[in-house]
Amino acid sequence: MKILGTGSYLPERIVTNEELSEIVDTNDEWISTRTGIRTRRISAGETVSDLASKAAFAALEDAGISAEQVDMILLATMTGNALMPNTACLVQKKIGAKYASCLDVNAACSGFLYALNLANACLVSGMYKNILVIGAETLSKIIDWADRSTCVLFGDGAGAAVVAADSAKRYVSETGADGDRGEALKAGETGLGNFIVRREEKLNYYMTMNGQEVFKFAVKKVPECIGAVLKKAEVFLEEIDYFLLHQANVRIIASVAKRLGVNMEKMPVNLDKYGNTSAASIAILLDEIRKEGKLAEGKKIILAGFGGGLTWGAAYLEL
Ligand code: COA
Repeated sequence: MKILGTGSYLPERIVTNEELSEIVDTNDEWISTRTGIRTRRISAGETVSDLASKAAFAALEDAGISAEQVDMILLATMTGNALMPNTACLVQKKIGAKYASCLDVNAACSGFLYALNLANACLVSGMYKNILVIGAETLSKIIDWADRSTCVLFGDGAGAAVVAADSAKRYVSETGADGDRGEALKAGETGLGNFIVRREEKLNYYMTMNGQEVFKFAVKKVPECIGAVLKKAEVFLEEIDYFLLHQANVRIIASVAKRLGVNMEKMPVNLDKYGNTSAASIAILLDEIRKEGKLAEGKKIILAGFGGGLTWGAAYLEL
């Protein structure tokens, strides 16, 4: 699989740590030292399909293909516009990808990786030729803005990549999930209610998180998963040019770098600007460092994500 083009889009509205300290009992010092986050973007009216479509347009332009050449749209999100139609169909309509099949993928912050895996399988099987893989979120709508332990961490945004089959470019991945630990990170319970049972009254719509459990899970699972991918791909750690990790917390990224014995210069960080944008984070980072000219032909990269589910994944890609 090869990447033909990438794009990203962030809502204009920048929210600083200082601004959040006017809403909840927090401060810039706590947020920046514990997480590395300084600002995040929050949607002031744009929906997930709006953000995703803008990232998709940019990726198509970068790839030099038209929307009508897209055979499939895979949209990783957990904050879609509605249960039906899926958000990928809304993006299809907005960008005019009238020949595309459309599917939303929900694996929380690992969503973009899971979607890339599906894209790779569809390309390798010959089912599709050009696939638009998008990660997009408006997490701000599922955040409890009175809960300081979560509201300071997240942001809205979208990133996209156009991928196509290329037997000369290897893609090797590893994903996993542990539903037993799903309670650690939850949002958007819909519950059950019908003419037989009353709808549960205490539904938990807003995000809840056991921060320390998620932290411990991430710093253990991400290096393990990257190690497994390198082994499967038969590639040495030293051969990797960049490790693009899910952008949740700079301390998680630094801990993974330390455990692997990798210099932080190989692990780009943009969470200081955008916070944790869940399924969008790896896609946005991929676009940014590509636009900086760091991903020239022949470079080798690792993408790695983790999040609600609990889910995780890593992928080795040759550019
Ligand atoms: N501002 C100020 N104080 C805050 C705060 C905030 N925004 N949020 C929590 N605190 C307080 C707590 O109430 C607690 O106070 P107490 O000691 O008086 O009880 C104190 O800070 C320490 O809280 P704790 O939860 O132990 O902090 P921590 O060092 O574990 O950092 C996280 C919290 C959330 C930053 C950290 O656990 C983390 O990053 N976890 C991973 C989360 C994540 O990445 N989730 C998404 C995965 S996709």
